[in-house]
Amino acid sequence: MKALPSQVTLVEVGPRDGLQNEAQPVSTEHKLGLIERLHEAGCREIEVTSFVSPKWVPQMADAADVMQGLQRRSGVRYSVLTPNLKGLEAALRQQPHEVVVFGAATEAFSQRNINCSIAESIERFAPVVAAAHEAGVKVRGAISCALGCPYQGEVSADEVERVVRLMKDIGVDHCGVADTIGTGTPRAAQAALERALKHYPLAEVSGHFHDTYGQALANILACLELGIATFDTSIAGLGGCPYAKGATGNVATEDVVFMLHGMGIATGLNLDRLVDAGAWISGVLGRPPVSRVARALLAKRGVAAPVAAA
Ligand code: HMG
Ligand code: MG
Repeated sequence: MKALPSQVTLVEVGPRDGLQNEAQPVSTEHKLGLIERLHEAGCREIEVTSFVSPKWVPQMADAADVMQGLQRRSGVRYSVLTPNLKGLEAALRQQPHEVVVFGAATEAFSQRNINCSIAESIERFAPVVAAAHEAGVKVRGAISCALGCPYQGEVSADEVERVVRLMKDIGVDHCGVADTIGTGTPRAAQAALERALKHYPLAEVSGHFHDTYGQALANILACLELGIATFDTSIAGLGGCPYAKGATGNVATEDVVFMLHGMGIATGLNLDRLVDAGAWISGVLGRPPVSRVARALLAKRGVAAPVAAA
């Protein structure tokens, strides 16, 4: 077996993937308060918001305000989602370090999420990638539903590789393989990520796992065995996707950090401060953190997990 990476980069997606799915409005101040606490916990990669249609995802309507309100820290990279040129132009005015184009491994999810076919999405992304590069901004490509689709069901590694190749052809710099509905299991996760590794170097492939079926940590471990050392995680296990019914949160940052640190793998993150950040935003949302590690550590501190709005 290959040696596991000694260091892993976690991209904190809670402010975007986490909060996009909240039914109740979350204020810009609370979003900024969360990001400030993530800074305190040592987060160096933060997915801040999405420049998408506010009719489709109302929670992200304040994207420009959030970017403008950021108290940027040096050494921290901020990324945002951009589905088309309109989104990219608005995003570039806020100077992100990275933009994310998001496609899907299945036609059905592509239609539901971004209202176009896979081929049309690639046609839309191509000028986004070119304009981002012109502005000196890196482009990450996310492939949703790589391990299962809420509309199609099972998804093959061939379907994943098809989109990996299309993204590579238009110059996308990094390939994020996403298990949007959390049905993936470790061997399937390896099979999908291996297809990404056929086209992208190890450092430019990442895993994005939702924990709906409790498989996310096992899937991350399976990816570590391939040498993958970048994962998206979400504070307190916030999140889901508005176009994937029943998809619960992304794997919780606290849970992943506990596992990695327990295995002697460095993340640069401070678990206690992550628990603070997760407890705070959970208090704002009026429910306890989903993270098992956060709940355990809060219980150990003698603090009841927050349930009341802050
Ligand atoms: P459309 O309706 O086909 O777009 O939506 P359109 O070009 O026909 O425009 C319709 C209206 O939207 C127009 O406004 C445009 O100006 C406006 P109107 O004239 O009606 O007033 N519009 C925009 N406004 C703001 N920003 C923009 C933008 N583009 C158009 N960028 C579109 C197509 C892609 C825009 C829409 O489907 C959309 O915004 N989808 C976003 C869906 C989304 O954000 N989903 C969640 C993120 S993906 C995810 O969570 C999965 C991931 O985390 C991985 C995983 O978990 O697996 C990445
Ligand atoms: Mg997600």
